[in-house]
Amino acid sequence: MNDRTKEWFSEVRYGLFIHWGLYALLGGEYQGEKTDHIAEWIMNHLNIPVEEYRKLAASFGGEDFCPREIVRKAKEDWGMGYLVFTTKHHEGFAMWDSKCSDYNVVKATPYGKDVLKELKEACEEYGMKLGLYYSQAQDWDDPNGLRYGSDNSGKNFRKYLDEKCIPQLRELLTGYGEISLLWFDTPMEMTREESGELVDLVRSLQPGCIISGRIGNELGDYLTTGDNFIPAWPLERDWEVPATLNDNWGYNRYDGNWKKAEDILRLLLKIVGRGGNYLLNIGPDERGRIPEESIRILDEVGRYVKENGEAIYGTKKMAPYPYDLNWALLTAKDYKLYVHVLKPRMRIELLNMANQVKRAYLVRDKRELPCGSRNICEGDPIVEVELSEELRRETGYVVCIELVEKEPIFNPIRG
Ligand code: GLC
Repeated sequence: MNDRTKEWFSEVRYGLFIHWGLYALLGGEYQGEKTDHIAEWIMNHLNIPVEEYRKLAASFGGEDFCPREIVRKAKEDWGMGYLVFTTKHHEGFAMWDSKCSDYNVVKATPYGKDVLKELKEACEEYGMKLGLYYSQAQDWDDPNGLRYGSDNSGKNFRKYLDEKCIPQLRELLTGYGEISLLWFDTPMEMTREESGELVDLVRSLQPGCIISGRIGNELGDYLTTGDNFIPAWPLERDWEVPATLNDNWGYNRYDGNWKKAEDILRLLLKIVGRGGNYLLNIGPDERGRIPEESIRILDEVGRYVKENGEAIYGTKKMAPYPYDLNWALLTAKDYKLYVHVLKPRMRIELLNMANQVKRAYLVRDKRELPCGSRNICEGDPIVEVELSEELRRETGYVVCIELVEKEPIFNPIRG
């Protein structure tokens, strides 16, 4: 992606995914039966008949959903630069005022508001890039939409594309101002021509809009990895990891398997150091409340991200450091290496780093720290930064080492 309009994506690094739809009302359970799969798939996994599932809309109150507050928090407290909202998940329900299907949040629910319009306004106010998730192939409500795990052979998929998918995408791309990203998902057996048709549609209506890897047929503008799967090394192309804070995307009241903030931070730094973006999910509940644990984790990670944004935003992929450090993770920009210190440490030592160093400073207050490079007695190069007494007791800070060379130089392990 060299296009200038897309530069933001390779610099943004951290975004918010929001999964909100009718499945939130069930919270992982239908008529006393719990789903053992992800909550937003409950309709398919528990075989809920279309007419029964549709009835959920009548009790979609969403009274506590506050788009402006979510966007404000994502930007100001969590340090995120883009947001992706589920406009239509596999369940087929439209979370905007869709003209071509009354099965939507405005016409079919007591909530009655165009949630997408509110989100868009909040994104404009806070300078947040807006992305839309749209399930282009699977639609369990439409008789001709595809359904994973079922026989789709008798369906007229073309009819679904022409009468629902394409008209709805048109609405989304023409009625809500600038859309920065279209997040397609689960292409199933869509052909290259069909995927290409959707790509052309997006390009013709919003040329600056980026298309996710899950459009299928290798036609996306960047790679979308498997859910919660983090590449172990840098990749050639731009990429993004969609990920959860627990084990579900949609709200599941029985899922208490929350990751620790510290783990999320480590994953973020690994992704960023390898040149990717982290798209982290929240699943608001039936009233639109964000689970408290999600807020707690994102607040904690956000404090670090806000304080050390210099070492996260706009960083680029770097050659892997040859040793596995348990006390630090590394990110880089041209002429700069950032050492994220995550465990107490006497001094920073990077063995086999062969750069000449100009100076080092603590990112949070720009305080200079003594640094140097030399060869150890085994002959290998090392870069060192001295830490003050108080820093030696601390964790969760970043030291920037300014380099004479543009990139970090790591010698292979030898001897
Ligand atoms: C999947 C699932 C889905 C979720 C998505 C997020 O492909 O089908 O429920 O929305 O991944 O990445």
